[in-house]
Amino acid sequence: MSDPASFYITTPIFYVNDVPHIGHAYTEVAADVLARWHRQAGDDTWLLTGTDEHGQKILRTATANGATPQEWADRLVENEWLPLLKTIDIANNDFIRTTDERHETNVQLFLQRLYDDGFIYAGEYEALYCVGCEEFKPASEIVDGTGEYEGQKVCAIHSKPLELLQEKNYFFRMSDFAERLLDLYESRPDFVQPEAARNEVISFVRQGLADLSISRSSFDWGVKVPWDDTHVVYVWFDALLNYITAVGYGQDEDEFARRWPATHVVGKDILRFHAVIWPAMLMAAGLEVPQKVFGHGWLLVGGEKMSKSKLTGIAPTQITDTFGSDAFRYYFMRAISFGQDGSFSWEDLAARYHAELANGFGNLASRVIAMVARYFDGIVPAAGDYEEADLVVQRVVADAAANADAAIGSLAIHDALAAVWTVVDELNGYITTQEPWVLAKDDAQRARLGTVLYTAAEGLRALAVLLSPVIPASTTKLWTALGAEPALGGLSEQPIRDAGRWGQLPAGTAVTGLEALFPRIDATGTPA
Ligand code: ME8
Ligand code: MG
Repeated sequence: MSDPASFYITTPIFYVNDVPHIGHAYTEVAADVLARWHRQAGDDTWLLTGTDEHGQKILRTATANGATPQEWADRLVENEWLPLLKTIDIANNDFIRTTDERHETNVQLFLQRLYDDGFIYAGEYEALYCVGCEEFKPASEIVDGTGEYEGQKVCAIHSKPLELLQEKNYFFRMSDFAERLLDLYESRPDFVQPEAARNEVISFVRQGLADLSISRSSFDWGVKVPWDDTHVVYVWFDALLNYITAVGYGQDEDEFARRWPATHVVGKDILRFHAVIWPAMLMAAGLEVPQKVFGHGWLLVGGEKMSKSKLTGIAPTQITDTFGSDAFRYYFMRAISFGQDGSFSWEDLAARYHAELANGFGNLASRVIAMVARYFDGIVPAAGDYEEADLVVQRVVADAAANADAAIGSLAIHDALAAVWTVVDELNGYITTQEPWVLAKDDAQRARLGTVLYTAAEGLRALAVLLSPVIPASTTKLWTALGAEPALGGLSEQPIRDAGRWGQLPAGTAVTGLEALFPRIDATGTPA
């Protein structure tokens, strides 16, 4: 047998200047769903996430709060960023912090190699810097301030004044790489996704690339430049390298060869760093460029990008405390086409929760289990001869599994969920038309009742497997209630690419009672 395919997927590493909001959680969930799917498909999967802790933004926040930047970062990671992963049920394989020794050492190694190979030179610099973005702003993103910032130049994203910096800096010869980058986008059309993001990146690079300032000397919260300790490495240059330092770059070449290159899932706000600067850095170092860079859309509140700096952030626990982590995961993956912006609203969340999770899926699961309990003493009956209606269910299950896997392969998570949901809808319709409660009143229909309930239970088996990457907590409960574990093993061991094959749940399996997977929630937000 050949080695399993490697699937290495990353989230951005988040700034620890503030607490997580649902935008960060959204990226985490998307990457986690993809990782869980691939893991369950048997791919050699690795999900990396972490925190970005250096730079002026963190330094200023820490100072304003009377802490050293290291103390501040430790506190935020411990109290906020690690707990976030529990809140939304992320099964990451690693968590990297840019203050980790394994990271800092190998950032220096990378930089030294580029320096030795002539890709870095010293120069003078004077430009407008946005601390919010941690970036020298291109002219296209500098606008005139209004209101309290009248007469000043402000960042188009943060609407805050830019700072004029004049320093001696080290520069990375990024301008050398414009042609090679354009060739890359051309020869690998799915390198940057979605299409709109790719077009934006291409037109940006076509305008020509400037060299990149990669060091700062006016403060010292960062990785020291190895040949000049009066400079620290520019925070983005440092941060991007997490994707390779976390998987052994510079210290474990086998691990590095096994994992790299990665699929990067990022918000479109930081697409250019990942699709332009990062591959240019890797090319300079003679390393492979990423597998893919996917720039997803923004969660909008009142039509604007939800953000910490604009005080529109919603904490993930505000949602999970009432609806639970599965509903959080389901809602954002289902309601927003991955790659597009999406407006968050409590009404839409509550409506989908009740219609799709409580009534559509949860109720289906409870009814089927309850009927097996009532009509067959809790033992899944054997199917007799299949009729056309049963065969339709089998085809819907097979198609759903195949279509969902194809959708995941192209990172269309919403399409994968829509494909799986055809099974929920089909089974609900099937039960309505087959009326098992009517069959149960007629002894002559005993075999038919068995076929119908086997079909429904086996459909639930497939649903549990196919939905487990998205709603792991409730599908685990369903798996237990179905009594599937003794015969089939644990839910997370079920090969997802085989989920559509009919007849895996053996007749004779003993079901157990199932509490409501998604209890109704009344208007005040308390479970009814
Ligand atoms: O940029 N909608 O970190 P950051 C959707 N440290 N996603 C959102 C969002 C929104 N309204 N707001 C934030 C940084 N995000 C750098 C990254 S990577 C080497 C360094 C998500 O804390 C989205 O993934 O500002 C976005 O790209 C990321 O948070 C920015 O997080
Ligand atoms: Mg940001």
